[in-house]
Amino acid sequence: MILSLEEAYHLLKKEKVPEHIVKHSEKVALVSLFIGCFLKEIDKNIDLHLLTVGALLHDIKKYKSFLTGEDHALLGYEYMKKLGYERIGDIIKAHIYLELGSLDAFITEEEIVHYADKRVMHEKIVSLKERFDDLKKRYGKNEQTILRLESLERLNYLIEKRIFKRLPFTPDKIMELEKIKEVKDVLFRCVKSCSSCWWNIL
Ligand SMILES: [Fe+2]
Repeated sequence: MILSLEEAYHLLKKEKVPEHIVKHSEKVALVSLFIGCFLKEIDKNIDLHLLTVGALLHDIKKYKSFLTGEDHALLGYEYMKKLGYERIGDIIKAHIYLELGSLDAFITEEEIVHYADKRVMHEKIVSLKERFDDLKKRYGKNEQTILRLESLERLNYLIEKRIFKRLPFTPDKIMELEKIKEVKDVLFRCVKSCSSCWWNIL
């Protein structure tokens, strides 16, 4: 089943997702779509619509789980599956629990959203280093958490390497997306016209 961008925004509203989480999710969707558009030039299988909607909804249960102590990725996964959007559920689950296949395999929508989420700190696009320095400062209270964060950091540098060896620019290019103020408009526009869209904006 396909969920439109309008319907995704409607779901965020229905689930009473706070404004700051919506803004964060829009940025993650922007980074995901930008990467996806250029990867699609080499891999036609990438579904840009699924990618953008999955990124927009990846934290749909974050606020609720914050109140109840549940796992927001699994809760979001179950919720979307119940609504009949299994692939969106898979993307939501993978933004925390990513299973990376063979290193030669094509890059999946799950992998892109997982990485894009680590390039957005609150509502701001940052480098992986900045994001993980912040995560370690905020959550690195015991050895187990530090080890988990370090392993997540290594995984994301690996994904970054996999993505950018296929693209005509370096990871720093993503920072330029910070210039875009009308993020929602760009999402609606670029999901349709893709790679030609970006050069007019940046
Ligand atoms: Fe996120």
